[in-house]
Amino acid sequence: MAKTLHDLFLHQLKDTYFAENTILKALPAMMEKAVSTELKSALGVHLEETRGQVKRLEEVFSLVDAKPEGVECQAILGIVKEGQEVMEEFAGSDALDAGIIAAAQAVEHYEITRYGTLYAWAGQLGLDDAADLLKETLIEEENTDDILSDLAEDSINPQADEDDDGDEED
Ligand SMILES: [Fe+2]
Repeated sequence: MAKTLHDLFLHQLKDTYFAENTILKALPAMMEKAVSTELKSALGVHLEETRGQVKRLEEVFSLVDAKPEGVECQAILGIVKEGQEVMEEFAGSDALDAGIIAAAQAVEHYEITRYGTLYAWAGQLGLDDAADLLKETLIEEENTDDILSDLAEDSINPQADEDDDGDEED
């Protein structure tokens, strides 16, 4: 039988479910390693949000009469692994938090593309309740991305760029 847009939607739902669960496991270490208390708390807020996003995906599975399950997503595994490498390489350096933010934003951008597509497909398929749930998460991911950008530009990047003698470079 030919595959349909509905099949594709379900496949991407599983991919995203795997991604969210991977992020749920990766965020605590990022929080722990972050130096800035503001960054720690922003990541903590997003950890809580991510738990809600997993539940929302489970609701979407039930709306399409499918059981929640993940399919391995190489993209998110690669993004998370790259973040872990940066955290190891820059451990103890002034630039560590800037690296953590960059890793977290790479995750957010991946999720934004996934939820953007899922939202569009749900609309096309007439799955209005699913579309509403996906949109809620999409907005949360975009907000997190904005918060991380503000944090990076206002404090984390300037701190990362401080001279050894403590002067900030212009
Ligand atoms: Fe998420």
